[in-house]
Amino acid sequence: ADERQALKARIRQLLKEKNAVLVAHYYVDGDLQDLAEETGGCVSDSLEMARFGRSHEAQTLVVAGVRFMGETAKILSPEKRILMPDLDATCSLDLGCSTDEFTAFCDAHPDRTVVVYANTSAAVKARADWMVTSSIGLDIVKHLHEQGKKILWAPDKHLGGYIQKQTGADMLLWQGSCLVHDEFKGVELELLRKEYPKALILVHPESPEAVVAQADVIGSTSQLIAAVQSSDAKEFIVATDNGILHKMRMAAPGKIFIDAPTAGNSATCKSCAHCPWMAMNGLQNLLQVLETGSNEIHIDPAIGKKAVVCIDRMLDFAA
Ligand code: 13P
Ligand code: SF4
Repeated sequence: ADERQALKARIRQLLKEKNAVLVAHYYVDGDLQDLAEETGGCVSDSLEMARFGRSHEAQTLVVAGVRFMGETAKILSPEKRILMPDLDATCSLDLGCSTDEFTAFCDAHPDRTVVVYANTSAAVKARADWMVTSSIGLDIVKHLHEQGKKILWAPDKHLGGYIQKQTGADMLLWQGSCLVHDEFKGVELELLRKEYPKALILVHPESPEAVVAQADVIGSTSQLIAAVQSSDAKEFIVATDNGILHKMRMAAPGKIFIDAPTAGNSATCKSCAHCPWMAMNGLQNLLQVLETGSNEIHIDPAIGKKAVVCIDRMLDFAA
């Protein structure tokens, strides 16, 4: 514990010395989330991370999350220096949607408006008309559907399927999934609900349909935390990465949080309920990038210039 405190003190000092700001996602180590908050940075969902990074005056942003979050920050602010604790922290959705295959998919359906989830590479975003995050995907697709647009959606099939069902939009879905949320099980959740009949069921929409169907609240990480804050419930069953429990416990001390069931448990299944790539962010590598300035995100400017269009559309829509 002493060593962690010493690391945190050194990180605080370096953030100040380097005029850098820490932007963290709710799934990373709790110490990193606390540091971001204490030092004037932000801890939030992917939409807020993008917005905060773009508007903050600091010229160096340290993004604790996964690669697409650092890339989005760089695309929005090419003049800023974006560092990440580990550049290999990727995402199964990004990995499952290669630029070549995605381009071929778009080429085969030129009549469709291309909407991609934030969890994609810069090159995939460069081909898209719209980028969305989980907190705003539903509203944007609803808007496009009302304008009579047919949609090509990539890469998360569960989020896409959920939005399609809610909006009735004509959506052609790429078949990607998040390896963490894909593990949540509908039948086991039904059994768990019987044990905790008063619990509120909180579900991230990257989860399978059988799990989403049982939700009391469906939303992005920030939206699920807001639900905990505003609810009178005493117990919550949480179907998303368990890194979020750090903030939920802070938001509602004394309340009970129960992990939604997965096929394995955390001892036997590494990716169950905690993202292995989010877990690559730690105090040690955060300190190292601040000391050395290593692990900088670079985006080909030509790709960045194209990719920024679909992100700006989302931010303007959200404004
Ligand atoms: P949020 O935008 O809800 O924070 O989700 C990001 C993510 O990667 C979820 O797995
Ligand atoms: Fe990607 Fe899933 Fe990890 Fe989120 S939790 S970064 S969607 S693999």
